[in-house]
Amino acid sequence: LPKPVSILLDETDPTKIGTLRKNKDEPSEGVVRVSVQGRVNRVAKQGGLIFVTIRRGLSLMQCLLSGQLSKTYDALTLNRETSIEIIGELWEVPSHAHAPLDRELHADYFRIIAAAPGGDDAFTNQVPVDGDTQTLLNLRHLTLRHEKPAAIMFVRDIVESAFHTVYKELNCRKVSPPALVQTQVEGGATLFKFDYYGETSYLTQSSQLYLETVLPVLGDVYCIEKSFRAEKSLTRRHLSEYTHIEAELDFITFDDLLSHLEHVICRVIDLTLEDPVAAEAIKKYNPDFVKPARPFMRMRYADAIEWLREKGIKNEEGNDHTFGDDIAEAAERKMTDEINRPIFLTHFPTEIKSFYMQKAEDDKRVTESVDCLMPGVGEIVGGSMRIWDYEELMAGYKREGIDPTGYFWYTDQRKYGSTPHGGYGLGGERFLAWLLKLWTVREACLYPRFMGRCTP
Ligand code: 4AD
Repeated sequence: LPKPVSILLDETDPTKIGTLRKNKDEPSEGVVRVSVQGRVNRVAKQGGLIFVTIRRGLSLMQCLLSGQLSKTYDALTLNRETSIEIIGELWEVPSHAHAPLDRELHADYFRIIAAAPGGDDAFTNQVPVDGDTQTLLNLRHLTLRHEKPAAIMFVRDIVESAFHTVYKELNCRKVSPPALVQTQVEGGATLFKFDYYGETSYLTQSSQLYLETVLPVLGDVYCIEKSFRAEKSLTRRHLSEYTHIEAELDFITFDDLLSHLEHVICRVIDLTLEDPVAAEAIKKYNPDFVKPARPFMRMRYADAIEWLREKGIKNEEGNDHTFGDDIAEAAERKMTDEINRPIFLTHFPTEIKSFYMQKAEDDKRVTESVDCLMPGVGEIVGGSMRIWDYEELMAGYKREGIDPTGYFWYTDQRKYGSTPHGGYGLGGERFLAWLLKLWTVREACLYPRFMGRCTP
């Protein structure tokens, strides 16, 4: 037999795979002997034949063991997840049958690389596809091998690459700010504190303050880093560790910030849909997905409060919303789902926002701030213009009860060439939950971290 050519399961290059054999009577001209490696995804016995679907990454290949091969001990005891090498010729599948890339590998030889157990210990008995969430998470290292979690991880990779591409198109430089810090960004309540060689330090809540310091160095900047929040409640959209996609833009207006955000979100979706595997996954798990129309709806916080009052949607105390209320998750979701399109919710009151937010020119009660809300998830982005005046920043620290000493490096930005600037943070897992219509952001994490879970 000729020496086989090693190929990947989704290889389509004709110089490698040759021509597909149509039937056993056809001349074998152009047919190549190939070798593939993968893990057993499914075994089906039919008469004297064994159909084995093998898997490598998201790619699958149907293989056929027949004749003496299908009678061997190894073939008869083949279990899911066994890693295997199979050698043979690629055939067209009969017209009534279906197989990935409409082909199947007719084996003339196979070799077990490492056998996975059968019986009680078999993957199919031990690793449920769905059901009790605790079990699924305890077995995350194995449940990840199922089709949907694998597809989500694939889309996650494509989406992250798309963000990098878009930021490069916009001439934003990438930096990598520290995760171990001594400053808060979004309030003390969700800080993870730890002992840093005897000094109190925190896991970063946001890289924003550091990104601001890079504007004079590199111009517009972004980062994709982990942020950490000690969220003390279990919700569908809160993690303790999440992927924070943050950007900071120099010499801009609030309107520029909103246009930039709209562009980034739409362009990332377009780029993601250009990948056929990601596009198929989105179609499969979120069949009703439609690309958001531009411009996104813009709604001021004050108008949202009016809207909630008109609809009778109450605040957390069960009362009508009033100006100054934090719009809680439940109310925000109801509003977003009913409006059912992306919303830029803007101009939140100063008191309910962070110390660094710039006040609006036309109404000093509110800030130039924005949350981007998506149907099914709610807030996926939080952003704002930043205070660029030294005295106003000092007042901001004071209002929030922050000792400015540790923020000397942040304050210094207002001393050496301050500028109108702004930025935002987008929750990577929330973006994916919206794109793939996931029940919870936990599904968008490789190994989710939330209150009560730090393993595996
Ligand atoms: O609204 P947040 O708290 O804003 C900031 O951290 C800003 N400093 C970012 C910036 O301007 N550079 O968080 C931004 C986004 C939220 O809209 C949400 O998508 C996500 O981060 N997020 C979380 N995602 C998952 N789990 C959590 N606990 C999250 N907290 C925030």
